[in-house]
Amino acid sequence: MIVLGIESSCDETACALVNEKREILSSVVWSQYEEHRRFGGVVPEIAARAHLDRVDEIVTEALNQSGKKFSDLSAVAVAAGPGLIGGVIVGVMTAKAIAYAHHLPFVAVNHLEGHALMARLSNDVEFPYLLLLISGGHCQILAVEAPGKYKRFGGTIDDSAGEAFDKVAKMLQVGYPGGPNIERAAKMGDSTRFDLPHPMKGRPDCDFSFSGLKTAVRYQIEALEKTAPLSEQDKADMSACFQAAVVDTVVDRVKHGIALFKKQYPQGKHLVVSGGVAANTALRGALMKLAEKEKLIFAAPPLKFCTDNGVMIAWAGLERFRLGKKNGLDVRPRPRWPLDKMDE
Ligand code: KG4
Ligand code: ZN
Repeated sequence: MIVLGIESSCDETACALVNEKREILSSVVWSQYEEHRRFGGVVPEIAARAHLDRVDEIVTEALNQSGKKFSDLSAVAVAAGPGLIGGVIVGVMTAKAIAYAHHLPFVAVNHLEGHALMARLSNDVEFPYLLLLISGGHCQILAVEAPGKYKRFGGTIDDSAGEAFDKVAKMLQVGYPGGPNIERAAKMGDSTRFDLPHPMKGRPDCDFSFSGLKTAVRYQIEALEKTAPLSEQDKADMSACFQAAVVDTVVDRVKHGIALFKKQYPQGKHLVVSGGVAANTALRGALMKLAEKEKLIFAAPPLKFCTDNGVMIAWAGLERFRLGKKNGLDVRPRPRWPLDKMDE
């Protein structure tokens, strides 16, 4: 069984081929950093046009790299949402055209399910497992029972963690994309210099909030700028303090998630972390320690498969397809699509 997957829901145009032996036959990711850098964030209209310009050649490259032809495929999968709708439409139309022209089954994948199931390709993870899905658009804790079956324990009430990283990076002018640049700056910083809030910490649920933390960073920056422009050391220290506050809060929220998970799924063995922010080494390290303490096996995809890619879509498509889940060509692209209401 070989599935081709297309991803275009944010600022990566990506395509990959995987098989049921969990082998990645090819993976091509084109990040639109250059297109969006001068705006300090993703501009949806620019993203949609950039996907349209590139998607055909990315699909061709993924096929060429794998040495396969359309006729070798078992199905075509695409991220049909949630995401920036212009980009999602480009991916869905491309995948439908391939499916129609080559008489292939078509599988509409929820982008979040791509992140959620990715660790089942990269690591030996069995259902049910506890998942922290932490990316630019989302931040939630879920129990994963099977493809299409999720139980949500909690999520952010305002910004996602990735959004907070990106906005703080913009305030500190450490460059776009935010997450990796904050992480780099934090390595040279003192994580005890500024006093920042740790929102939601200690609450008996699994919810997150990042907007207060972001505002606190802004106030501290404004206070510093009253005397002099921010120095490189100020930026590094603020990055370190911000990252430490995020890591500490997330660990606390996941701890509550683990308690709920153990009660409801005593047979579960894994804590999985996935999504763009899961590429953060400090966060991975802290969650690894927590898992060890809680006697759970920690699993996270390799860094390059934490951020958006085609492999996760091809793999989630394969997991669905082998369970007999496929879609008609009348599926509509969806800007919103909660994971716990997936198959509705
Ligand atoms: O999963 P993803 O590629 O796209 C969404 O589905 O949202 O996640 C992108 C997010 C961005 O906000 C980016 O700043 C963040 O992931 N990110 C990181 C790191 N690498 C990417 N955040 C913190 N540390 C990183 N190393
Ligand atoms: Zn994503």
